[in-house]
Order: sequence, then C-alpha cells, then structure tokens
Amino acid sequence: MHLKLVTTLALVAPSHALIRFGCSQLVVDRLDPLVEPGNAPSAHLHQIIGGNSFVPDMSPAKHDPAKLSTCTTCQPADDFSNYWTASLYFRARNGTYKRVTQKANSGFEGQNGGMTVYYMQNQLADYQQKAKVKAFQPGFRMLIGTPTASTKAEADRYPQLTYTCLQDMGTRFPETKNFPKKPCPSGIMVNLRFPTCWDGKNLDSPDHMSHMAYTESGTFESQGPCPASHPVRMPQLMYEVIYETAPFNDASLWPEDGSQPFVYSFGDSTGYGNHGDYVFGWKDDALQKIMDEECFVRCSTMRTQTIEQMNNCSVARKVVEDVGDDNWLTALPGHGHMKRTSSS
Ligand SMILES: *[C@@H]1O[C@H](CO)[C@@H](O)[C@H](O)[C@H]1NC(C)=O
Ligand SMILES: *[C@@H]1O[C@H](CO)[C@@H](O)[C@H](O)[C@H]1NC(C)=O
Repeated sequence: MHLKLVTTLALVAPSHALIRFGCSQLVVDRLDPLVEPGNAPSAHLHQIIGGNSFVPDMSPAKHDPAKLSTCTTCQPADDFSNYWTASLYFRARNGTYKRVTQKANSGFEGQNGGMTVYYMQNQLADYQQKAKVKAFQPGFRMLIGTPTASTKAEADRYPQLTYTCLQDMGTRFPETKNFPKKPCPSGIMVNLRFPTCWDGKNLDSPDHMSHMAYTESGTFESQGPCPASHPVRMPQLMYEVIYETAPFNDASLWPEDGSQPFVYSFGDSTGYGNHGDYVFGWKDDALQKIMDEECFVRCSTMRTQTIEQMNNCSVARKVVEDVGDDNWLTALPGHGHMKRTSSS
C-alpha cells in the first residue's frame, strides 16, 4: 500500500515533503549506544544502518555523526544518522537458533539488508503533506518501545509499533502488536513509528523518550495537536524492517505445540518487546531543507547515492562472536534477558 501510494501521488502537488528511502546494513553488532553507552558487548544484538562513525559511546559532547562519518549506508548522501533495531532469530525444534536476515523493500532491490526509512509531515495517506515541521537538531536522539514489554498492555503504551505478515511484498494490512502466528510467505515486516512532539528544549532525556510525546489524539496518524508540554511538531520518523523468514516457513520446522518459532535477540517470542533507536546525523540543515521543499519522495534537495555506494559502506563488528549466520547457536548471543513468554 505504501509503495502504491508513492507511485500514484506524483500527480498531486504537496506543499512540503515526504521522503522514503532505503538504507543498507552497516553492521550487525552487540552494541546499544543509547541504553548502554560504552558497553561492548551490550545485552543483545542489533542491526545498525547509517553513518560509519557508529561506535559504542556516542555521547553528543564528543560525537556528531555528520562530522565524524565518511560514508553512509542510506540513500540520501547527507544522512549520517544511525538507526537500529533488534535482530531476529529462528528457534529450531531442538532449541538451537539461527539469525534471520533482513531484506530490502520492493523498489530497493540490491540493497544489502537494512531498512526503509520515512520522514513525513502529515500522515502517510495525506497527499498534500502541508503541515510544517521542525527537523531534528544535531545531538538529538530518541528511542521507542522497550525490550521488557511482555504483555499487550505494556506494548500498547507504544501505539505505533506493529508487525505486518507479508503475503507478498505489497501487503500492508493488517498490523498486529505481536509476531504473526502463521508463516508469512514474503517475510515479517516490523513497522516502527516514533512520537512526533518535542519539548523544544532537550535533545535527549534519561529514558531517551520523555523529551518526546505523542499528539493529544494519541498518534501522528490521527492528526491531533501536540500537547502543551511538548509543543514542537517534528517529522514522523518511521522504519520498516523486513525479516526474511521465508527460509523457515516449512511447517515441519515449526514448534509442535502450534506456537510460532521467531524470537528477538533479547529472548522475546511475543514481539511485544519491539523497539527502535535513532541518533540524528543529517549534515547541516539538509533535513530541514528537504522538509521545506514541495515534493513527495523524489525531492530535488535530497542528494542521493547509488545502491552500490550504500552497500560499499560498512564497519567491522566490534564484538567478535558467532551470531548464528552459519552455525546453529545453543544460546542467543549474550543470552539476552532469556525471557520466555509464549505468544498469547
Ligand atoms: C537442530 O535443528 C536444526 C534445524 O532443524 C538442524 O539443522 C541442526 O542440525 C540441529 N542440531 C542438532 C545438534 O541436532
Ligand atoms: C567503495 O569503497 C572504497 C573504499 O572506501 C572506494 O575506494 C571505492 O571507490 C568505493 N566504490 C564505490 C562504488 O563507491
């Protein structure tokens, strides 16, 4: 659906911008610079995309990705931000694990793993994109979701973290809060939408969330105003991460009790622990300039690079360990939290 919108919208003249672009994988590593700065290893494995200055400690005083990076895995050549989410594993009947790789959205074929990233000014289905937003500032960072959520009620605190079971690459509905319970022929897509209202003062906060808030109507999509405590309207940042689960779809490999076999790198098999992290790193005011342009996806102010250049940017894993790409692991890297809640 998102992709179909993009192709039909060229006819409409929006007042401001919506951008949607691919980013290749930078590295898969057990690092978590926001929650566990400096720790190598951190508690669980992530896939990271974006600028190649990504390191275990990215405290803003010493780390501006736009200044320190020399390449980025993202299509916009001026975007050295880092974006990351947890890795996914398949758990075999004998209790061993193999890592599930990510794959590109349609339209981004050739991209090595990674994600699709959006910045928008109005809800995705709004062809005009009229409402002005203030772009994120240097030093800005945030996260959404928590790996400790193990019930739907806990996951519902983050209303826009969902899954789509891809019947084909164009499937966009329905979205669920938990992992799909049946095999998904084209993979599992994780949708992460961040809050969009900023307190206007703090580039970060102790929980990396409370400097941001949802709109008064609950979500950006429902188009409510920002609350007085967080009055500044920011772009809706959204990730789509597609896990290539198809190689594990054979029913004879799935658990005999009828549950689904996928588990996050932190041990969650419900999917309620869905979370994503963001460290802003656009060069100068490149993001604000794009947001102020009248364009939809193809924005002349957005300098782009080729998929070959995106794939050519990577960093070496800092925590050297077997992450289960070739071998079946007897435990998740770092053992995660080893939370074993069953899908409800
Ligand atoms: C565990 O299961 C996987 C997937 O079926 C298989 O490839 C692997 O050889 C098994 N490992 C052991 C020790 O039986
Ligand atoms: C890939 O990276 C290398 C080393 O940074 C560089 O020399 C080369 O020109 C790059 N190739 C492409 C296609 O960007």
